[in-house]
Amino acid sequence: MRVHVADHPLITHKLTVLRDRDTPSPTFRALTNELMTLLAYEATRNVRVVEKRIETPVTSTVGVAIAEPRPLVVPILRAGLGMLDGLMQLLPTAEVGFLGMARNEETLQPYTYAERLPDDLSDRQCFVLDPMLATGGSLAAAIHFLFDRGAVDVTAICILGAPEGIERVEREVEGHDVTLVLGALDERLNEQGYIVPGLGDAGDRLYGTV
Ligand code: PRP
Ligand code: URA
Repeated sequence: MRVHVADHPLITHKLTVLRDRDTPSPTFRALTNELMTLLAYEATRNVRVVEKRIETPVTSTVGVAIAEPRPLVVPILRAGLGMLDGLMQLLPTAEVGFLGMARNEETLQPYTYAERLPDDLSDRQCFVLDPMLATGGSLAAAIHFLFDRGAVDVTAICILGAPEGIERVEREVEGHDVTLVLGALDERLNEQGYIVPGLGDAGDRLYGTV
């Protein structure tokens, strides 16, 4: 698995506001989307394109277009939904599939409560969106869902990650073509499985359920 941790002052600045417990939901939502757009630059570096000939007002030239089959973007509900618009602004022709997953807060095991993905992902590039990579259980399960259906490669984009989660995903997806793009690599998990320093519960903060 390739891991890319962002290193840019604008990202760190936006993350600082996102982490702040006093940041209200509307600002939190706007920042989540902005961070996704900034991370998209790195995350889409290997998006497949094909050559395309066009006519400019001056001459004929060859550029590129996004290749078929179109990339599939998969936000993990709920919190991943907060990143969807940020990526779709840059990849407007991508298809969107949904995975609903939640972590049992006692056992920390993820369970899947909704799935709306194409049955056949042969030859598809997939982008998984989830702001938080904590124990890694949810992301590893989501990535397996996609490879089991034939995905060719998966790029996961998370705003914060813990070392424990990265190690777990790395172990569980060994042998597959996976890239992880992170806004920041945090210190550790606490006893409740929350990322430290983190930002708290991303879903609650996005949707005002605190
Ligand atoms: C959060 C987060 C991830 C998961 C990360 O979702 O958005 O999906 O926890 O934890 P893990 O790495 O230990 O699996 P949550 O289960 O709180 O659901 P929500 O998005 O509906 O709030
Ligand atoms: N899920 C969250 O929303 N936050 C964490 O810190 C860990 C899991």
